[in-house]
Amino acid sequence: MNKAWWKEAVIYQIYPRSFMDSNGDGIGDIPGIISRLDYLKYLGIDVIWLSPVYRSPNDDNGYDISDYQAIMDEFGTMEDFDTLLAKAHERGIRIIMDLVVNHTSDEHKWFIESRKSGNNKFRDYYIWREGRDAQTPPNNWGSCFGGSAWQYDEETSMYYLHLFSRKQPDLNWDNPDVRKEIFDMMTWWCDKGIDGFRMDVISMISKTGEMPDGETTGLYGDFSPFCVHGPNVHKYLQEMNEKVLSKYDIMTVGETSGVTTELAKQYAGEDTHELNMVFQFEHVEGDGKYGKWTDEKMPLTTLKKILSRWQIELYDKAWNSLFWDNHDQPRAVSRFGDDRPQYQEISAKMLATCLHMLQGTPYIYQGEELGMTNYPFQNPDEFRDIESINAYEEWCVNGTVSHDVFWPCLAFKSRDNARTPVQWNDSAHAGFTTGTPWIAVNPNYKTINAKAQTANPDSVFHYYKKLIALRKQYPVIVYGKYEALLEDSEELFAYTRTYENEKLLVVCSFCDHETIFTIPDEFSEASCLITNTGQEYNNPTITLAPYEAFVLYKK
Ligand code: GLC
Ligand code: CA
Repeated sequence: MNKAWWKEAVIYQIYPRSFMDSNGDGIGDIPGIISRLDYLKYLGIDVIWLSPVYRSPNDDNGYDISDYQAIMDEFGTMEDFDTLLAKAHERGIRIIMDLVVNHTSDEHKWFIESRKSGNNKFRDYYIWREGRDAQTPPNNWGSCFGGSAWQYDEETSMYYLHLFSRKQPDLNWDNPDVRKEIFDMMTWWCDKGIDGFRMDVISMISKTGEMPDGETTGLYGDFSPFCVHGPNVHKYLQEMNEKVLSKYDIMTVGETSGVTTELAKQYAGEDTHELNMVFQFEHVEGDGKYGKWTDEKMPLTTLKKILSRWQIELYDKAWNSLFWDNHDQPRAVSRFGDDRPQYQEISAKMLATCLHMLQGTPYIYQGEELGMTNYPFQNPDEFRDIESINAYEEWCVNGTVSHDVFWPCLAFKSRDNARTPVQWNDSAHAGFTTGTPWIAVNPNYKTINAKAQTANPDSVFHYYKKLIALRKQYPVIVYGKYEALLEDSEELFAYTRTYENEKLLVVCSFCDHETIFTIPDEFSEASCLITNTGQEYNNPTITLAPYEAFVLYKK
């Protein structure tokens, strides 16, 4: 297997709006990030993935970009960005940018021009179609954020495609001018010295020419067969690789919802010349009761089956990302662990162990290193996220699911769970801002915060710090081959990793009661690399505490 710095790295995702506010307007910003670089250095991460900081009207918090070469006013200036990049580099931290090029904002100059007439230079930068008639869109596709995926535009009496909100029109990648504009813009950022890109919904950039109705699920038809992993997606990524990516020592990760292991080998194959790794969602999708909404946990055997398959099938062929959460997912500890006070800390450490010992590049989403939890949402007014707000409208207000049934599902999975401010200390607003935060702070900040945890060597923070350090010390953690143990257990997630003459045993309890585990003979003389209980693993048969996790190592 080829070695690469981005296989050995640990990535930390920053959602700038919620990270750290420097000027008291209640909104996180770039100077705020700069003020916390030493914290990140101390944690030991290698790369920051910066969620969008570009100019944006914020219909979808920066994922709707109106200027790719300017910084959002609320976040600071391009000078601030340059300072951030320089100061991160001084500390040996790389920065990868979120690249959102499936769509722009409807306030981008290309779209402003595009909508003006049926035959201007920019018309074909987007996807315009005639309606079936004046009241009916070209087909039945629904958008990811609710409603039709088509928006009627009076100026020219035609519809444009938006797979996300109506303020996020999809770009037409079949137009070579669009590709050139995007590649030039990427080159401009690379020349500035950034270290790579996380590519937003990159698997959706190529659409089929024919746009028939999709199978209906609920009110609208499914666009996926026509827009996800579309006909030219690999061709366009290879072109991007040739014209931009291959010229720099950067890393790339493609957000590829719905990708199979087979397709991942193409997107992120060792020698396919597209991307370095995929960011796939199989283990965090498919659990929904109403669309994606649910209040239930996936059974452990299902979760293990999915993660094991990715471990095995990509081995030596392609590279994957490892994550439990990000800015679009609920908090890991609430979803996969146990956020009741007596288990929050130990289960956060267990999840970290389980994930960081797998093969792939681990991603830590801001606050995860503190074991931050879901927010106790009580009513829809507390949401700021367009997806959550629209889902409530569509399923409850206009739909047929009662509030009492739908609410727990929405509150459990809302993206806003991940977007409450990082809890820095136990002062007002968790030290995130001196003003009024744009979204409420989780009330548990008095006990869960960075100040308390950096001071406490037994904290979740220090546990993550240790996991990151272990990765630098033991090549088996990065390059070892995975083998699953106890596949039928609904309580334990156990596996081994093997690399040359090194071997790891990883055992994680996913349940709130004690369990028995027998250590395989070959590990009887092994040493313990990390444990979240302090237990010693000298006897073959051990009783594991609720959410206990440990890693044994032998040479
Ligand atoms: C990606 C982003 C998400 C955004 C969507 C549209 O899934 O992670 O936050 O809403 O794309 O850009
Ligand atoms: Ca601010």
